[in-house]
Amino acid sequence: METSHTIEAADDRRVSNTITAVVGLAVLALALVFVFETNLAPSHWYAFFKWVHVTGAVLWVGGGLTLTILALRAERASDSSEMATIARQAAFVGERVFAPIGLLVLAMGIAMVVNLDLDWGTSWIVIGLVGYVITFSTGLLVLGPQAKRIAQLIETAGADAAETQAAIRRILLVARVDEGVLLIVVAAMILKPFT
Ligand code: HEM
Repeated sequence: METSHTIEAADDRRVSNTITAVVGLAVLALALVFVFETNLAPSHWYAFFKWVHVTGAVLWVGGGLTLTILALRAERASDSSEMATIARQAAFVGERVFAPIGLLVLAMGIAMVVNLDLDWGTSWIVIGLVGYVITFSTGLLVLGPQAKRIAQLIETAGADAAETQAAIRRILLVARVDEGVLLIVVAAMILKPFT
C-alpha cells in the first residue's frame, strides 16, 4: 500500500528529474549557440568537437581530483569506513562514468586532429595520446581488477580488516598517480610546449 511518504518521495523524484532535464537542455542549447557564434574556432565542427572534448575532460579530471581529495582526507583521519565508501564510489564512477567519458574525450581529440589536418607528431598531441594509453591501461590492468578484489575483501574480511585497508590505500595511491598523468596532459593541451 502506498503511504503519503512514498507518494511524497515519488513527487520529489519527478520534480528533481524535471529540473535536471531542464538544466541539461538549457546548457546544451546555449552551448550550441556558442558553437555557432564563436569566432575563435576554425570551423563549427571544430568548435563542437572542442566543446565536447574539454567538457568531458573537465568532468573526468575534476571528478577524479575530487575523489583524490576526499580519499586524502579520509586517510589523514584514519577513517576506515569512509575509505571503504570512497573506494566503492571510485570503483563505480571509474567504470561507469570516467571510462566512457575518457573514450569520448579521445574520440573528440582525434576528430579535431582530423578536422584541422593537424600533425600527429606534434608534441602536445603525442603527450595526449601517450597519456591516454597510460590511463587506459592503468584502469584496465590495475584499477578495475583491484576494485573488484577490494569489493570481495569488504564482503569476506570486512572494511576494517588490515588486508582490506592496505588494498584500499594501494588503489587510491595508484589512482592519485593516474590523476597526475591526466593533469600533465591538461597542461600540455593548454600550453602546447615544444611547438
Ligand atoms: C588524456 C586525455 C585528454 C585530456 C584530459 C585533454 C584535455 C584537453 C583540454 C583541457 C583542452 C583545452 C586546451 C585549450 O583550449 O587551451 C584540450 C584541447 C585539445 N585537445 Fe585534448 N585532452 C586529452 C587528450 C587528447 C588527445 C588524445 C588528443 C588528440 C588525439 C587531443 C587533442 C586536442 C585538440 C586538437 C585540442 C584543441 C586545441 C586547440 O584548439 O587549441 N586531446 N584537450
